[in-house]
Amino acid sequence: MTNVFETALKGKHVVIVGGGSGMGKATAELAASLGARVTIASRNEEKLKAVASEIKGDISVATVDTTDEAGVKTWAANLGKVDHLVISASSAAHGAFAELPTDDLRGMLEAKFIGPYVTAREVLPYLADGASITLFSGVLSRRPSVGATGLGAVNAAVEALTMGLAQELAGKARVNCISPGMVATEAYAGMPEEAREGMYAQVGNSLPVGRVGKANEIAQAVVMAMTNDFLTGSVLDIDGGHLVRD
Ligand SMILES: NC(=O)c1ccc[n+]([C@@H]2O[C@H](COP(=O)([O-])OP(=O)(O)OC[C@H]3O[C@@H](n4cnc5c(N)ncnc54)[C@H](OP(=O)(O)O)[C@@H]3O)[C@@H](O)[C@H]2O)c1
Repeated sequence: MTNVFETALKGKHVVIVGGGSGMGKATAELAASLGARVTIASRNEEKLKAVASEIKGDISVATVDTTDEAGVKTWAANLGKVDHLVISASSAAHGAFAELPTDDLRGMLEAKFIGPYVTAREVLPYLADGASITLFSGVLSRRPSVGATGLGAVNAAVEALTMGLAQELAGKARVNCISPGMVATEAYAGMPEEAREGMYAQVGNSLPVGRVGKANEIAQAVVMAMTNDFLTGSVLDIDGGHLVRD
């Protein structure tokens, strides 16, 4: 049977900023297994090389810090033609409204909104015909949580950017956004194991699917966003039912 995703991705250049861990890494694995030529990017070259060596297929690495505008420009100019750009890179800051330090808020805005904005803009001249851009927000944009109001607002900004760009880049690129619920990734690696597992269990139990997500489940949605030519300006909620839970 023909695999529509393989047909669509074979030989295509997929660039994943944030591809060294979590959902970006899972997307790199899936895209490479479907025959894409994959470039993974983030700030840490050693980490990227170690990840690339684990993945079967045509995979290369290119370091970039999305918050370094001049660096992004040079990096983009060295990519060659890009068929699909995925930006999962981010860092998040948590804290109550009255307590979150302004510098932490600014840092999150830089890493999760301005960095992806600049990265997409600098890759624009190198996009191939039929290109797509996939950004990442998160469930907090429309299902707020106390202590994560700033992050929710930044997620909402990414979703607004997605919809605006889908119009502005019409004919040049389709633009979509993945909004994950809680997914077990390296993003939580800094937590003590017991607290992390407890959080996964607590959030998972509150969801219709009864558990938190796996990175490969999000990767499947990213591949769909890359390959479905009728999809643009959409925010795909892959959240185990978080938006509709009690
Ligand atoms: N995991 C969740 O539960 C969850 C829930 C909702 C939304 N999300 C969103 O989904 C996306 C993917 O999350 P994830 O959990 O897969 O993330 P992750 O595992 O923490 O990976 C993020 C990646 O971004 C890279 N990165 C961070 N800042 C960067 C920068 N300035 N420039 C370049 N690369 C940078 C990091 O690598 P280096 O440190 O090596 O640069 C890392 O590889 C993010 O936008 C996140 O906010 C996640």
